[in-house]
Amino acid sequence: MTGKVSFEAVDSYINSLFVDDDPSLDGAIERAREAGLPAIEISPGQGKLLYLLAKISGAKRILEIGTLAGYSTIWLGRALPENGRLISLEREAAHAGVARRSLQAAGLDPRCEVREGAALQLLPEIEPSFDMVFIDANKESYPAYLRHAVRLARPGGLIVADNVVRKGSVLAPAGVDPQAIGAASFNQALAEHPRLEAIILQQVGIKGHDGLAIARVRDAGDD
Ligand code: DHB
Ligand code: MG
Repeated sequence: MTGKVSFEAVDSYINSLFVDDDPSLDGAIERAREAGLPAIEISPGQGKLLYLLAKISGAKRILEIGTLAGYSTIWLGRALPENGRLISLEREAAHAGVARRSLQAAGLDPRCEVREGAALQLLPEIEPSFDMVFIDANKESYPAYLRHAVRLARPGGLIVADNVVRKGSVLAPAGVDPQAIGAASFNQALAEHPRLEAIILQQVGIKGHDGLAIARVRDAGDD
């Protein structure tokens, strides 16, 4: 083959192979665009990855920090068993409203609750434990979200965070923007945390160059 194939083209190829057309997910995107929400939701392939991580870990309780339009919420909610439960935190009332409508249209509203408010105000009220915590909100607060995630995730539980590479700006975040600084501090804390074992999956594709952090909370059975 001649010429260079773009990362975006390969990402689209992967998504077309592994993510079926889906009226609920398409509807969630449509509702988000109509409401003028920013088009920054996770990609279809990232959604499938979150879904698989939740299923592989047998998650019954999931906490999401940052709902946006509920696209990732639908992926995660679908991975839950009938008696599972997901709580998603969203600061913007308009976003929360759009997400609730999409969850309802997907038939997931009995399992998935959107709580409105600033995550740092809501998190102290939330009690353990969760099998999985997905962080995808204001990057400046990522270090604080991580402290809550470690408190709330069960031993052996999973913590996943979006946008931890940010085009590589986390390598030298000073002077870039507060979000890069937040993501870099988060990564450092994740790497050093005595109760976590973690890695970052670097990603390139239709969302540009970024990364997903994946961490496991140690449990008593660990060495
Ligand atoms: C952006 C992307 C994200 O996935 C996110 O959670 C926030 C912002 C962005 O591209 O600006
Ligand atoms: Mg994100």
